[in-house]
Amino acid sequence: MHSDQIVRTFVEYFEDRGHRRITGSTLLPPPGDPVLFTTSGMHPLTPYLEGRPHPLGDRLVNLQRCLRTTDLDEVGDDTHLTVFEMLGTWSLGDYGGRQSLEWGYGLLTEGFGVDPGLLHATVFGGDDRCGPDVSSLELWQEHGVPVEPTVEDNWWSNGPTGPCGPDSEIFLWTGDGPPRSAPTRDDRWVEVWNHVMMRHRRLDDGSLVPLGRGNVDTGLGLERLACLLQGRRSVFECDLFEPWRRTVPGLWPLDERSLRVVCDHLRSAVVVIGDGVRPSNTGRGYVLRRLIRRVLTVLRGEDPSRGLVDLPEEPIRHTLDRFRLQEEVESVRRVLLDEERRFDRLLERGRQVLSRPRFRGPLDEEDLHYLHETHGLPRELVLGLRSG
Ligand code: SER
Repeated sequence: MHSDQIVRTFVEYFEDRGHRRITGSTLLPPPGDPVLFTTSGMHPLTPYLEGRPHPLGDRLVNLQRCLRTTDLDEVGDDTHLTVFEMLGTWSLGDYGGRQSLEWGYGLLTEGFGVDPGLLHATVFGGDDRCGPDVSSLELWQEHGVPVEPTVEDNWWSNGPTGPCGPDSEIFLWTGDGPPRSAPTRDDRWVEVWNHVMMRHRRLDDGSLVPLGRGNVDTGLGLERLACLLQGRRSVFECDLFEPWRRTVPGLWPLDERSLRVVCDHLRSAVVVIGDGVRPSNTGRGYVLRRLIRRVLTVLRGEDPSRGLVDLPEEPIRHTLDRFRLQEEVESVRRVLLDEERRFDRLLERGRQVLSRPRFRGPLDEEDLHYLHETHGLPRELVLGLRSG
């Protein structure tokens, strides 16, 4: 199933059940928001989850682009991405978690044709602040889906304070042979869909208060589902990455993990640039800078003559179109190439400074701090130059 068809099937299934489609927001939360980027589909809906009436009603569905830097070190495995798309549904004080899971099960098994025998669920097992999620547990048992209660893994919050609640996650078996074990003990169970019973708000002192009305917030990673429905081993092999997979290996032969990092970071950088961010030393711009520099470090580590000037237009254009961004391909390329030039100048300065007698021996924390503060040489870059 092509990813466009996945999106259509998802949205229509929920529209048939009274949901209205809302337009996804950019990756940039509104001014004053404490987080740098939109990290999940619920994020732009926070005021409505907290009680403000939504103009389109109490049942919503959408596709939202998200960026997670918390997963940066995991990029390169089969399932994690920096920028990804999340299909989401919301009940704003309307139906409850049981109904949401019932529809989730129906869409996965009937709409997407997933074998029910390949599903596993997890539910919140309860702690000293909140009782166990018995209703979700019973729903899974009624469907004969194996279910595992956990505590930390089944509590969702967007940050230290704000709306939060117990969740029930749906996993799909990706191993060879019949399913075995359980999601917390075997990573061949891949999480595809999270249903959060968003009934609480966490206050500054860590305490929980009821939200006023019970919401349900669900999120399903599009690239993950596409990978599973298309029978691929990793998200990098689903149709959404096709233009990157087709062009990058021919340009720069890389081992599989490095190839994934390069494709993920370049694609993410294109989306971040398309949403108006430019490289800088702070905030969002620094995240973008790190993405581009990590690509350059990987490429140059193998062959110093490699450069972004060789990157063809096609994957950039495909990504801009996919994320419905207005930015011109040429202007994205300019940002990438300017940043590459800046990185090259920094490398040159780094080599000169590190050749001074003071830095010839092993570097301690104080040296690294000094090199960063005085010469603008980031720690990773210095360590990269020393190991290279
Ligand atoms: N907010 C939840 C998540 O990001 C469900 O959408 O997993």
